[in-house]
Amino acid sequence: MVSTKIIALDCEVADNTITNDDLTKILDTSDEWITTRTGIKERRVISGDTTSTDLGIAAAKKVVKRAQNKGFDTNSIDLIIVASSAPEDIYPSVSCLIQKELNIKCPCFDLRAACAGFIYSLNVARSFIKSSIYKNILIVATDSTTKYTDWNDRSTCVLFGDGAGAAIISSCDDSDDDILGVELMTDGSVADFITLKAQRDPSPLVNQRETDIKPYIQMKGREVYKFVMQLIPPKLEELLDKTNLKIEDIDYFVPHQSNQRMIDALAQRLNIPPEKVVSNIENYGNMSAASIIVAIRESIDNNKIKLPAKFMLSAFGAGMTAANAIIKLDKNV
Ligand code: ACO
Repeated sequence: MVSTKIIALDCEVADNTITNDDLTKILDTSDEWITTRTGIKERRVISGDTTSTDLGIAAAKKVVKRAQNKGFDTNSIDLIIVASSAPEDIYPSVSCLIQKELNIKCPCFDLRAACAGFIYSLNVARSFIKSSIYKNILIVATDSTTKYTDWNDRSTCVLFGDGAGAAIISSCDDSDDDILGVELMTDGSVADFITLKAQRDPSPLVNQRETDIKPYIQMKGREVYKFVMQLIPPKLEELLDKTNLKIEDIDYFVPHQSNQRMIDALAQRLNIPPEKVVSNIENYGNMSAASIIVAIRESIDNNKIKLPAKFMLSAFGAGMTAANAIIKLDKNV
């Protein structure tokens, strides 16, 4: 039987720190409002020519090095999946640029599932491995969300930050799978809850509909909040049932880092004690698809997480997409 092993995890965050107080210089807001409504104190923002691809390359190089230290051969990577929904360019895809930088030859593609992109990629990678199509898959999750925020819109620009996460997933012959269960969910009927419209330049030779497209993230925050609170807790309970686990069997809960109030409310609904909840939103804001990997890597490095351990992951974002997973991580991941 072929199983999936999570060999290594790593991440990279943008250099510049913007605090809530910095934001009060350009917006009608306050540290008090942002902290109490979101739990965010500061976020990392890329500047100048830096791109989400740069962050993705840095995270990919780090995870490859981490895996190499365990004897992993980089040339054995036979697929690269990049979860990226807000890159700078529509093509070439970020995955092609990461492949070029790593100097390896393998198929690559980008996967767009917004903030749920990492768990979506994990499930795609797992399917390829379990069907013996590929053996070693590099997943990178990276977005340059702050380049698409309207810095005059206080209800969205305070929320986001930039970062990237990367993981190497490999096949293994024992039956001890690191991915115990995954569920992907999509509800396109509420696609208007979070949007980021691309700028278009229509042909002058054909009639076009008049449009006033603003290439910024626009979000119905309250609706997103309600959608997530209704959807996620029962689906996590279902996933626990399917994997024959109880909530007490889970060592750590790592929800998407979108709002501390939501993180707390989800944990409370599921009866998960605060010491099992992984959160770093205070220092980074919402880093879209990268959030979960960065939160795990940082908590391991800061000794807030003890390995080996079982994790319950939950992410949601534009689409609306959502995904839950239960995974195991070994020591030295
Ligand atoms: N500073 C001060 N006041 C503000 C700010 C701010 N930064 N932002 C909004 N306000 C004001 C509003 O104008 C409003 O004022 P009014 O009552 O005079 O009209 C008041 O605060 C309340 O606004 P709400 O939008 O109702 O505030 P809420 O408590 O719902 O918090 C928030 C907004 C933080 C966006 C919250 O709804 C939320 O986090 N929702 C979920 C977002 C999320 O999880 N997104 C998913 C991922 S994103 C992705 O996938 C790309």
